[in-house]
Amino acid sequence: MSQSSPSPTDAGSLLPAVGLLALDRQYEMLREPIRAALERVCDSGRFVLGPDVAELENELARALDVPHAITCASGSDALLLALMALDVGPGDEVIVPSYTFFATASAVTRLGAVPIFADIDPVTYLVDPVDVARKISSRCRAIVPVHLFGRTADMDALLPIAARAGIPVVEDCAQSILSTWHGRCTGGIGDVGCFSFYPTKNLGGCGDGGFLTTTRDDIAARLRLLRVHGMEPRYHHQVIGINSRLDSLQAAVLRVKLPHLDAWTEARRTNAARYGEHFARAGLDGWITLPGDEHRGRHVWNQYVIRVADGQRDALRSHLTNHKVGTEIYYPIPLHLQVCFRHLGWAPGDLPETERAANETLALPIYPELTDAEQRTVVGRIAEFFRTAPARAQANSPQPASAAALAGPHFIRRMNHAERVADTRR
Ligand SMILES: Cc1ncc(COP(=O)(O)O)c(C=O)c1O
Repeated sequence: MSQSSPSPTDAGSLLPAVGLLALDRQYEMLREPIRAALERVCDSGRFVLGPDVAELENELARALDVPHAITCASGSDALLLALMALDVGPGDEVIVPSYTFFATASAVTRLGAVPIFADIDPVTYLVDPVDVARKISSRCRAIVPVHLFGRTADMDALLPIAARAGIPVVEDCAQSILSTWHGRCTGGIGDVGCFSFYPTKNLGGCGDGGFLTTTRDDIAARLRLLRVHGMEPRYHHQVIGINSRLDSLQAAVLRVKLPHLDAWTEARRTNAARYGEHFARAGLDGWITLPGDEHRGRHVWNQYVIRVADGQRDALRSHLTNHKVGTEIYYPIPLHLQVCFRHLGWAPGDLPETERAANETLALPIYPELTDAEQRTVVGRIAEFFRTAPARAQANSPQPASAAALAGPHFIRRMNHAERVADTRR
């Protein structure tokens, strides 16, 4: 960033609004090829599965460098199908984070199994391998790490835990397409990967959709059967499956978008780095904690989530909403405290880091088409919030950051994943 560029806190240079998402910008860029693809499918009369779906599966497998990519109707179904393929059933336990979207756990309960919630690492927000290991029992049939916000869970620690227990790893990759871990794409690291094409994902369709990846031929064959009512050949049902097929219209749209995904991912990474620069210049010492990059793989930044100190999160969000800056809270009520899971017996305080994250985190706009001026506006509005409320800020002055959370030359508390992992392994 050049020294002469305006400070992000300069109110005169702030834009009147910044949306959390701008799906229209992507559509605008691809309007013609998307419309042509939709028309081609309508002309063909092949609306479910069909050639576009088969081609998309080949293209996804190539892009992720996995032998099998199998599409289905949603990311939620992908999780359900994965657990069905692994024969998870009544009485079984499956370890999942609580700080995630509902579908991660509901896939478990829909099969009559019990989700066992594990806490998260406070720096990365990803499932804590130490807590996972602690919670494995003889009834445990799988571990489901979520590569939340686009960052890979600590697979170096999780895979040996699963291997020791003799259970598979189902990766929830709904937010992590094209993220890597030591050079391998998520979804091809554990036994099965579950992806979502929900419109806000890094590769989003014009509606619902999802897919699964696996390196195991046996699981791939079972998934292909389970997504079509276990039917093979026609009207002969080998197992009880579900109807979870991808529409050809979605596949055609996704085939137009997939070649752009790598560039969009790089744009997200650039935006994340640029937030780092703008926040450093804004001097919000101790008030917010920025998300860190992942040095053992590629972080794909489906979300850019900051932590806001000392009960200021909701007031900051209101301030941003008042200035038309879009934000979101992922996820305000952890799954172990949801009403529908009350019968499982979890109570407040059971997963302290999950509950703290639910109270303190805030997602900022990070989409690929976000401009520098928009990012300056987001940072400027946040700086304005803390500057214009000095009394409140003083009264709630944050505790000094721990040594493990301090990294780099900046005074903003930064996450350093490598340090943190080294710490938790001791
Ligand atoms: C972590 C996670 N898992 C699963 C899902 C479910 O995906 P879908 O909305 O496609 O059913 C989502 C989508 O929001 C998600 O973010």
